Amino acid sequence: MTSRPSVLVARAVFPETLAKLRAHFDVEDNPADQIFTKAELSAKLAGKAGCFITGSERIDAEVLDANPQLRAVCNMAVGYNNIDVEACTARGVVATNTPDVLTETTADFGFALMMAAARRVAESEHFLRRGEWTKWSFDMFAGSDVHGATLGILGMGRIGQAVARRGALGFGMKVIYHNRSRLAPEIEAPIGARYVSKEELLRECDHLVIVVPYSAASHHAIGARELAQMKPTATLTNIARGGVVDDAALAVALRERRIAAGGLDVFEGEPKVHPDLLTVPNVVLTPHIASATVATRRAMADLAADNLIAALTGAAPPTPINP
Ligand code: DGY
Repeated sequence: MTSRPSVLVARAVFPETLAKLRAHFDVEDNPADQIFTKAELSAKLAGKAGCFITGSERIDAEVLDANPQLRAVCNMAVGYNNIDVEACTARGVVATNTPDVLTETTADFGFALMMAAARRVAESEHFLRRGEWTKWSFDMFAGSDVHGATLGILGMGRIGQAVARRGALGFGMKVIYHNRSRLAPEIEAPIGARYVSKEELLRECDHLVIVVPYSAASHHAIGARELAQMKPTATLTNIARGGVVDDAALAVALRERRIAAGGLDVFEGEPKVHPDLLTVPNVVLTPHIASATVATRRAMADLAADNLIAALTGAAPPTPINP
């Protein structure tokens, strides 16, 4: 009898996901949902043919070299800046992510954050809870309109396009975007999206939504210089990755009202949050939950498990990220 491959499921997941994997593999799981240090993760991978990870676990050349038996690294996330894909490919390790299944859910949340920032939802809720609401007044928490405004999207991939559809078709927004390359006219036309330079995007938008993947090229794509180009009435929403925005510079811009408000689901060095952001009132902060609906998290877990099963049973994984 041939022995079954062993795999590591590096974080707590749905029981159904574990059951699905256990039908094929010997599974070491992590019911305590402990975040492993790099050394712990590397040690846990000893003897494992594959691993099911999330965006919190980093797989780099050092981890791969310490575990030359590893054949598949399957991320339960669409973003994969936690995986050194080049190092995986060079060692013949299959790397996968979970695109598509979270697109609409993440776009919903991006829109919710943008609306919360524009209409000052969190700020006014905190005011009410503090017992400070004593009277109605004409300008109390007056924000800016979303309907009819100009929506600027940085990073017009699947999620960016889903945010744009909501804006254009649901709220009558004018959509402008900046991306590595211009989209095909048949994608632009139904939402009336206009491709612009990054400078024009920053200058013209009323609400900026950042959806660009994190890489060395997008590190601090939005910093003090870029924030200074935005309208003082504009909002900024980040549902991409923390490192895309310079959080320290953003906190200054928000505090000094150089932009009106922010909505952030992702942070540089999360789960730590820049202390200055915590004391700025005009920003809504959420703990990286844009894809967190039960249905979508189940779909992500399912797809990551399907990828792992395919990669280790000689089939083509549904969503590989190796070139
Ligand atoms: C993703 O899928 O990349 C989300 O940010 C969840 O990690």
